[in-house]
Amino acid sequence: MAAKQLNIKKCALAYSGGLDTSVIIRWLIENYGCEVVAFSADLGQGEDLEPLRQKAIDTGASKIIIEDLREEFCQDFLTPSIHANSLYEGKYPLATALGRPLIAKWLVDVARKEGADAIAHGCTGKGNDQVRFEVVTTALGPELKCLAPLREWELKTRDEEIEYAKKHKIPVKATAAKPYSLDSNLWGTSIECGVLEDPAAEPPEDAWQNTTSPLNAPDKPQEIEIGFDKGTPNRLNGKSMKMSRLIEELNKIGGGHGVGRIDMVENRLVGIKSRELYEAPAAQILIFAHKELEAICLDRELVHFKPHLEVKFAELAYYGLWFSPLREAISAFMTLTQKHVTGTVRLKLYKGSVSVTGRESRSSLYDTSLATYDEGDQFDHTAAEGFIKIFGLPSKVLARRK
Ligand code: ARG
Repeated sequence: MAAKQLNIKKCALAYSGGLDTSVIIRWLIENYGCEVVAFSADLGQGEDLEPLRQKAIDTGASKIIIEDLREEFCQDFLTPSIHANSLYEGKYPLATALGRPLIAKWLVDVARKEGADAIAHGCTGKGNDQVRFEVVTTALGPELKCLAPLREWELKTRDEEIEYAKKHKIPVKATAAKPYSLDSNLWGTSIECGVLEDPAAEPPEDAWQNTTSPLNAPDKPQEIEIGFDKGTPNRLNGKSMKMSRLIEELNKIGGGHGVGRIDMVENRLVGIKSRELYEAPAAQILIFAHKELEAICLDRELVHFKPHLEVKFAELAYYGLWFSPLREAISAFMTLTQKHVTGTVRLKLYKGSVSVTGRESRSSLYDTSLATYDEGDQFDHTAAEGFIKIFGLPSKVLARRK
């Protein structure tokens, strides 16, 4: 078997404690004869990771390392994404796509510290996540091999996996098969599989994990105010708070109003179109508010040009090319654009919608004396005539040719 030829002695596994990664620990030991070090990260998925310590060891791992990466996630991944108003195909705020490179980066560190010769993950052979884990590993730890047991093993169904688990005395929770595949972190929840695979059918209410249906949301709108400093959100309703806290609060408040539900058919990197649901109240609110603030703080040329690079940024993040020269260069550009994006945005949340009610900034380029149709108008109306003559000159020349 190819497994033996790879000659792996120790491997660092991205471990969630679920059925797949539990079975993977045993399977790696059996099939590669290697030692497995488990790694689990808190990215704000709202799950207590402490019970995983015992579970990983009981399942056969030689060691488990658990890290709280919420602040690093906010500083190094979510902040640049907000600056870039990052939405893949205009809709998906990229929660899973942004979480993977951070986990992979740590996995490479763990593998090196522990003297492992490979990393392993529990992604399937059809998704983007396998690409993200492995491309990031290649970029940051090219000496490490990548193992993807789900692409390789003989366990075709969940029942076969459960049987394998029982045979190897791996504790399996007696839960019914989950109807959806889920992945969650601070920036949102990704929901796929099962009945969602029919893009013509409305998702059943039980597919949504942490948001209230707009139908059941409060009948009264709620107004909130978000403060930004150089494009980075740092205040909610006048109160300063660290970003992870602000995001948690917005997920709660927004989710309560049915905000942040996204239903889309997206183009995966591996060539498949897939129907996915996302729940990302904070991401949707923050990106929306950020754009509103940019509208008064950025000049016209920047407002028009920046979205071109935003599209590319989202694509690179989605493709797992986070640690690439182009993504880093685009981020450097984005940072420069945020110099004057400081101020506050007021929003109204109401039955699934977010709307803006006001924006303010001390570096605003909005000039009432130029904009007004009322008294105090400073705009030079007579200059408009000459401007139009010159601006319209090419049109005039073209018309003559006709
Ligand atoms: N389609 C999304 C992406 O590629 C979500 C993947 C979610 N993963 C999962 N295990 N449900 O980023």
